[in-house]
Formats: sequence, structure tokens, C-alpha cells
Amino acid sequence: MQTLQTTSLRVEGNQFWILDQQALPQQKNWLPADSVEALVGHIHALRVRGAPLIGLSASLLLALLAERGESREALAAALETLRAARPTAVNLMNNLDRMRSALAQPDHATALVTEALRLVEEDRALCERIAHAGAALVTPGSRLLTHCNTGGLATAGRGTALGVIAHAFEAGKVANVWVDETRPLLQGGRLTAWELGEWGVPYQLITDSMAASLMAQGEVDAVWVGADRIAANGDVANKIGTYSLAVLAHYHGIPFYVAAPQTTLDPACPNGAAIPIEQRAATEITGVAGSFGAVQWAPENARVYNPAFDVTPAALIGGWVLDSGVVTPAQVRDGAFATA
Ligand code: MRU
Repeated sequence: MQTLQTTSLRVEGNQFWILDQQALPQQKNWLPADSVEALVGHIHALRVRGAPLIGLSASLLLALLAERGESREALAAALETLRAARPTAVNLMNNLDRMRSALAQPDHATALVTEALRLVEEDRALCERIAHAGAALVTPGSRLLTHCNTGGLATAGRGTALGVIAHAFEAGKVANVWVDETRPLLQGGRLTAWELGEWGVPYQLITDSMAASLMAQGEVDAVWVGADRIAANGDVANKIGTYSLAVLAHYHGIPFYVAAPQTTLDPACPNGAAIPIEQRAATEITGVAGSFGAVQWAPENARVYNPAFDVTPAALIGGWVLDSGVVTPAQVRDGAFATA
């Protein structure tokens, strides 16, 4: 396959690597992701993560396996295994549905490679369009708050919500970004802080529990988050803690925006209650592990509840910023996502 490089994916010939997002920012380790087993392991461990990136990595691996001469049956089985790697982000399912159509073509290997590369290029373009549409909503001098990581690490481009923030910063509109550390796996503290630093965007890292008092002090002008799935009624599944921010923003009269590409829409899903929410290992709550080692602070056998995502009701969202532009609450109530 042609050489391809994004912030966190690399293809050279028939080799495929991912940038280990669990080791960032202290270590930049590129790990092979050449088999279904290896990639599913990386996805489970969040070494590859972020809704768009999961779908793109699975599509690229399928294309590579096809180029290596895997049979149509083996590719179909690989596709279904990859499709089940994580349940909440619908980009994975949407991308692999397109790969399944390519697999049905007479020259399936060529079709799969073409489609995977097209998905990557499309995602880059989607990010740019989201960034332009979203930046128009940012007022000069803004202090923005964001959650999780929605940047170049999570997409093939420069990101969704973080792409908006970067673009608005380039337009001179961003005074500061409040970065939620995003418990339990610290995508904000490790990844968003790193990306904003690389881009030269001023930020301050906070724990998730600090957002309320910042809002009460008038220090937050808008909240920008990404999405893992947008239901037909506009409800949004995103990283756990997003819903709390939306409630807080509503209480304080602060605009709350969701930025996502059209691959995040699920018109077949009627509402947030129908979105499957991934439950994760207790060890993510009882302690912490990373490039620095592992520690546990909770008692042995502590009982744990660890959903990876929560659902923000459409009523709390001030605008859905897609690649097609800004979708308003009134448009969502009129069925904009039901007919997507
Ligand atoms: O568990 P993660 O790190 O994959 O969760 C990621 C998020 O919730 C992001 O906010 C979402 O995928 C949007 S990424 C552009």
C-alpha cells in the first residue's frame, strides 16, 4: 500500500504501526498492528483510541490483509472481529460497513485498499470542514473548556472539537483552553495537553471536578466536546464526564457544543438509551498504569462501576458542529439526524 502517515497511524509497504497512546506523552512508541489479534489488543487497551481513529485503523488493517492475499472468507471473519472490538463509537461500524461493500467487489483486494485510503482522506477533509464551521461560533478572547481527546491523535486530520479550538486559536480568538484531565484514563491530561502544547495553544490542565467552580467564577465561555455516537434525536454518547459538563454548562448559561464528522451519526439509533455503553476493567478505577509503572490505591477487591461513556441529552446541546455545518436544536427537533 502507499505510504501513509497520520499523527498516530503509519503504513509503509505492507507494514502497519500505531503510536501507543497509553505511553504518550512520556514515550513515543510505534507498535506493530499487523494482525487482527494485535490491533484488537491495541484497541481494547486504548493504545489506539478515539472514535474516528478506531474505524480508520480497522479499515487500514483489512486493506493490508487483503493486499497480503488473505481469502475473502478470512477477510469477512476479520471484519466481524474488528467490528466488535469496541461497542460505543459507531464510526467503527460505519467504516466497516463500507469496507464490507468493498469486500463484495470482484477485485476485492483493490477495492478494499482504495476504500481504506478514501476513508482516511475523507476523515482529514471532514476534520477541516468541522474546524471551519466550528471556529465561526467561537467569539474573540474565548476561554474554552474541553474534555477527553478529540485531536489529531483521535482522527486522521487535526481533530474534531480540538480541531475547532486549533482553528479558532489560529484566527486569534482563543485566550485559554481548560483541559479536563478526564478520569479514569486521562486522555485530557496526557493527550490533549500534549497536542495543545505541540500546537502552541495556551491551556491549563484541571481535574474534572474543577469545571463547576470555574464556570461559577465566569471563567468558561463555551464547552467543546467530541462524540462517539449521535442518535437520531440528537442525544450524544461521549467520554464519561461529558454529561456532567453539559448539565453544568446549562446551569451556568454557557454554550455547549458537540463537534463530530458524519461518520459519528447513527440515524438507526432512536435515542441515547439505545446506545451501547462500554464497561471497562475495575483496575482503571482502583489505580493507574502507564509508562511510569502501575499502582493501586483502592482496597483489594473494591467493587467498581466503570462505564467508558455517558449520554448527553439533546436538550443540553447548543449546536452539533458537523462537516456539513452547524445543526441547531430546532433542526434536530425537526428530524435532521433521523434522515441523515
Ligand atoms: O475511550 P476513548 O478515548 O476512545 O474515547 C474517546 C472520546 O470519547 C472522544 O471524545 C470521541 O471519540 C471523539 S474523538 C474525535
